[in-house]
Amino acid sequence: MYYPQEIVDQVLAANDIVDVVGQYVSLKKSGANHFGLCPFHSEKSPSFSVSQSKQIFHCFGCGEGGNAVTFLMKYENATFQEALKSLADRAGIRLPEENYSEQARERAKEREELLKINKEAATYYYKMLRSPKGKAGLAYFEERQLSQQTMNAFGLGYADGSRSDLVAHLRKLGFADDLILASGVAAYDEKRGLHDKFFNRVMYPIMDASNKVIGFGGRVLGEGRPKYLNSPETPVFDKGRNLYGLNIARRSRADHFILCEGYMDVIAMHQAGFTQAIASLGTAFTDNQAQIIRRYVKNVLLAYDSDGAGVTAALRNIGILRRAGLTGKVVDMRPYKDPDEFMKALGREEFQKRLDNAENSFFYEIRQMEGSYDLKDPASRTQFYHEIARKLCIFTDEIERENYIRAMAEKYYIPQESLRKEVAGYVMIGEGEDTGTARPPQARGAQEQQNSMPSGGMPDPSDFQAERAVYSRPVSLSGERRLGAAHEARLRNQRLLMTWLSDDPALYPQIRGIINAEDFDEGLYREAAGRYFEMLEQYFVDPLHMASGAAPIGTISPASVISIFDTDAEQTEAAALFETRIEGVHDIKERTAALKDVLLGIKKATLDRVMKDPETAGKLDEILKLKKILATIPGMNLKLSE
Ligand code: UTP
Ligand code: MN
Repeated sequence: MYYPQEIVDQVLAANDIVDVVGQYVSLKKSGANHFGLCPFHSEKSPSFSVSQSKQIFHCFGCGEGGNAVTFLMKYENATFQEALKSLADRAGIRLPEENYSEQARERAKEREELLKINKEAATYYYKMLRSPKGKAGLAYFEERQLSQQTMNAFGLGYADGSRSDLVAHLRKLGFADDLILASGVAAYDEKRGLHDKFFNRVMYPIMDASNKVIGFGGRVLGEGRPKYLNSPETPVFDKGRNLYGLNIARRSRADHFILCEGYMDVIAMHQAGFTQAIASLGTAFTDNQAQIIRRYVKNVLLAYDSDGAGVTAALRNIGILRRAGLTGKVVDMRPYKDPDEFMKALGREEFQKRLDNAENSFFYEIRQMEGSYDLKDPASRTQFYHEIARKLCIFTDEIERENYIRAMAEKYYIPQESLRKEVAGYVMIGEGEDTGTARPPQARGAQEQQNSMPSGGMPDPSDFQAERAVYSRPVSLSGERRLGAAHEARLRNQRLLMTWLSDDPALYPQIRGIINAEDFDEGLYREAAGRYFEMLEQYFVDPLHMASGAAPIGTISPASVISIFDTDAEQTEAAALFETRIEGVHDIKERTAALKDVLLGIKKATLDRVMKDPETAGKLDEILKLKKILATIPGMNLKLSE
């Protein structure tokens, strides 16, 4: 839904970003800004800064940044609308509803009701586990060595043998039958009518990143099929876009997540202190889930079952992680079946060792491939080498590829030069392995290569999702981002100037005739500068302010500039425009000199651009004008505030 800029600005103005961020991150004032440990990457000393005057945050470590809305979007994994709504609520502002289409309003209302029902059901199961009716469930969890605290943290519950008590309970609370059915906690058939979906099962509520219950997994006590019965997908339960345990893992301070196969694995790991463990939801891991993980960490350790199905799933997911730009490693759980069993048998120290020794995912893939060749047979061995060469083509970054070529050559005694040549050949003809997923080994046959889920009948066919979603060629970030040095310097000058101006808006009237938005690179930079200059212009048109020279706060708002951009990536980039620092510039003299350098740099770049422009109309005038400005800058008498 679209909100007018004034509303967004009003909401931003009513929420001090220091308070908003302060709810999640402990901040300490230092100089003009507040600093804390960045919640978006792992760090030991604070490089995450929040500026009260600009109403923005920016991390000097990882580069994340934005305004209060961006912060909530990133931290709560929320949409723009959700973030804005929560800030509006916080400040007691009513967002206009008129913009909702009738349909959208209905959908939002239905979602809200479904969440309420899920929450009521979770409470119902939770209480039952802790009541006399829940004895069997409690005994089951105790037998699996879960502590009271763990059961509480995961909101575990129990559904007893009744087939209709939950439905009756929900009806009593006033929920309509169609919504109860739509929530997935009940099912309908002619004979029984509306009845409870879950009975005689221990219940695992599934929560989204902001702790809302969106569905359930219910496990039989002991043997029985299906082992887990899961809620079907509903408007609030998208299995490909949520992860079990994420609500807790996102707050862990580790620089990685541990991706497991099962609910019980996650729970056992958390109980042992590894609160960075998550799992997919009874469905194959998806590209969307990888994207969600990327908001929190860049590294994923795969702790999958050590059986054939676990290996297959790991191989498949390595490709997904790689496509999302995440680094994957594989944890060796052998001789135990899964993290849960491992933890029970060897405990947390041993598990930590396994994490520390997790294997690089490429090495893992090759090692798995190796098993299906007979390296003693020259023909098979040759085949294996060819496969390695093909696979090396997934690395589009030359340096990275070269490193792997060397590693492979060394590990498998292949002459480096011939491996390099063969890879180059595959790259040229575009024949290399390009999916990032290992192809099934040829020699061993396919018996272990089918399902990514270990066992048990799945209750819901949609649980098995298509193998791969859209495939996009992996591009390494370093390759994508590499700008020319001159380009980098130009952008840096532009960022420095914006930062300076926002630190000290009284500078604006002094450079008014010198700099304009056209001096900024086309796209986001120019748009942001244009909007910011507009605000400054408006403000300084009022002679009162001109005279006082006081730094105006609020009306000239970087936070508002940021909100003209839609995606959080753009907002982050825009925030960096207002928080760029230079080293080694301290006193006023140095700062004035540095500012002049920046102004000169910016104008020189504009002159360069104009000179290169094939368009001739008015060009000479413009060049002369620019040269004149360039000549005046060194002599400018700039007054900077302390
Ligand atoms: P597992 O069978 O490994 O389950 O399946 P688990 O979590 O380790 O459970 P325990 O330790 O045997 O009690 C891994 C995951 O696959 C999904 C569930 O999400 C489960 O956690 N699954 C499995 C189902 O959805 N349905 C099933 O019938 C079986
Ligand atoms: Mn398991």
